[in-house]
Amino acid sequence: MAEIICIIGNKGGTGKTTISHMLCQGMGLLGQRSVCVLTDTHREPLDPDGRRYLIADARTREALGKVVDKIRALPGWLGIIDGGGNRSEMDRKLYGLANLVLLPFRDSHEDIRTVIRDLDAFPRAWAIPSQWPTNPWQQETAGKVLREQLGQYADRILLPVSTLSASKLLLQKDIPGKLPTPLGNACRALAYQVLDMLEIACEAPLEDTEEETQGADMRKDDALPSAEAFDPMTDIGDRSSTRH
Ligand SMILES: Nc1ncnc2c1ncn2[C@@H]1O[C@H](COP(=O)(O)OP(=O)(O)O)[C@@H](O)[C@H]1O
Ligand SMILES: [Mg+2]
Repeated sequence: MAEIICIIGNKGGTGKTTISHMLCQGMGLLGQRSVCVLTDTHREPLDPDGRRYLIADARTREALGKVVDKIRALPGWLGIIDGGGNRSEMDRKLYGLANLVLLPFRDSHEDIRTVIRDLDAFPRAWAIPSQWPTNPWQQETAGKVLREQLGQYADRILLPVSTLSASKLLLQKDIPGKLPTPLGNACRALAYQVLDMLEIACEAPLEDTEEETQGADMRKDDALPSAEAFDPMTDIGDRSSTRH
């Protein structure tokens, strides 16, 4: 059975979509097969070409049911569902079906207030600091706020995803053939943390120091998912059989 990871939280702009795509890309870089599932009715599906994961459109309730059933039936795959924000009912539904739930939040009082409410509402969920400062002085200030306001949830807070301007490349409809190395490294680190939580064995990622040439590599490597769009209506049984 596949594992389903949901990225939810009752607030827009926290980084749900970015973290969903970074996580999927990181999974691909670590040799895992994943599908990034869109549920936000205000967004259009992105082009899967050049990505190390598939894209599924689950913007209707019916499509979501079908997509989740399809992914569940693929042994060893990971389904990463990008929740929409401001949709409590959808968040409860996604929480109910997920093996792992992440709640991104930024270094702001409003985000922290919201994530506290979500941590209380979803007792199995983990908070993940998002768009976290990289400057040491700002980091120290953010850490202080975390300790003061989220101290009692300290054991439910994951390692942060740093602010990284290149992360927006993954949110483009079409991504460039080459992605910057720091983005690949951040994606790998995030995916490794999540695999560890799911107790899925994986070698610790080695940081890439050179530019990634994944666009070209991908087409040669038949162990990676096909770049065709993930369509819940088609039979994807064949893809699961190529897993090693
Ligand atoms: N780690 C990051 N570094 C830099 N910018 C980020 C990061 N995560 C998100 N952003 C930016 O913040 C905005 C909101 O992020 P998004 O992932 O769309 O949030 P959500 O899906 O929760 O609404 C986008 O413009 C995105 O590019
Ligand atoms: Mg979003």
